[in-house]
Amino acid sequence: MKTKVLLTVLVDVLLVFLTPKVSVCAENAPDWPKSLGVRWTPTHKFNSAGTWTPDPNLLLGEYEEEVPTRETKAYFMTENNTVITVQVGTTAALRCQVYDVAEHETVSWIRHRDHHLITVGANTYSNDERFQVTYSEKMQDWTLHVRYAQPRDAGVYECQLSAHPPIGVFTTLNVIEAIAEIEGGPERYVQTGSSVHLRCTLKHFTEPPTYVFWYHAEHMVNYDSNARITVVPRAGESELQISRVTKADSGNYTCQPANARPASISLHVITGETPAAMQRASATEVQYRFSLALISTMVALIAL
Ligand SMILES: *[C@@H]1O[C@H](CO)[C@@H](O)[C@H](O)[C@H]1NC(C)=O
Ligand SMILES: *[C@@H]1O[C@H](CO)[C@@H](O)[C@H](O)[C@H]1NC(C)=O
Repeated sequence: MKTKVLLTVLVDVLLVFLTPKVSVCAENAPDWPKSLGVRWTPTHKFNSAGTWTPDPNLLLGEYEEEVPTRETKAYFMTENNTVITVQVGTTAALRCQVYDVAEHETVSWIRHRDHHLITVGANTYSNDERFQVTYSEKMQDWTLHVRYAQPRDAGVYECQLSAHPPIGVFTTLNVIEAIAEIEGGPERYVQTGSSVHLRCTLKHFTEPPTYVFWYHAEHMVNYDSNARITVVPRAGESELQISRVTKADSGNYTCQPANARPASISLHVITGETPAAMQRASATEVQYRFSLALISTMVALIAL
């Protein structure tokens, strides 16, 4: 037995030494495979003994790989390549209606960005609890819900049927951020005793906010006992009305709609002076200080 093993090893070693180097071979041999238009990969064309083994494709001639025919009766009712736009913080519903799905077939949701398998059939596999599939037998619908949608959820999702090969429809999810804006911001000057209307409008929203909170500094004023303050809601906007303003009403007002970036305005309640006069006064002060600094610098320079 032992001698047989030794002999085999010896023969192998001899073969390795006797066989010309693979790189040399590769340069000499490959004329004909190249002419057939097949990519020449020398390392795979030699077996362990270093002998030339042609690719079976070359012996059989050129052929096209056959795409296996997809045998399924199922068909998608949901349109392909659709785009859904939702606002940050709301729920996105990605529909997928497939008719005549066979017993052995399943409908899954896949996130393309990272090939994450989110759902299979009526089961949700994602660790992210915001994802959930609802299956309606009557509608033959597997809708994927993404709650509290975030900008990072944006991208392509595929609803895939497990046929061979698989087939799916694609949905692109856009997640946009709604932004609040207060008209006439960021500073507003008003006279003591006048009425102030602060109008907050919402930009880029897909659904009107369920609420809009107004804050004076840190204090919410929507349900304030102060009878001079009223919040008037309208579609896509909200107005804060303050009647007979006093110095105490000065300060920072913030409009915070649900699921939107808030906006702030600084309210200055003044008596007598016009805001323009106030601004001029402060500008003169700056000029005066600047002149003083200039004079002292010149004095210092002359002293040198
Ligand atoms: C949907 O469109 C993609 C290309 O965007 C295609 O690959 C896929 O086969 C289409 N799905 C169906 C069901 O037609
Ligand atoms: C006003 O208040 C909001 C919320 O507290 C804050 O984000 C903002 O920086 C404040 N603005 C000013 C001018 O103080």
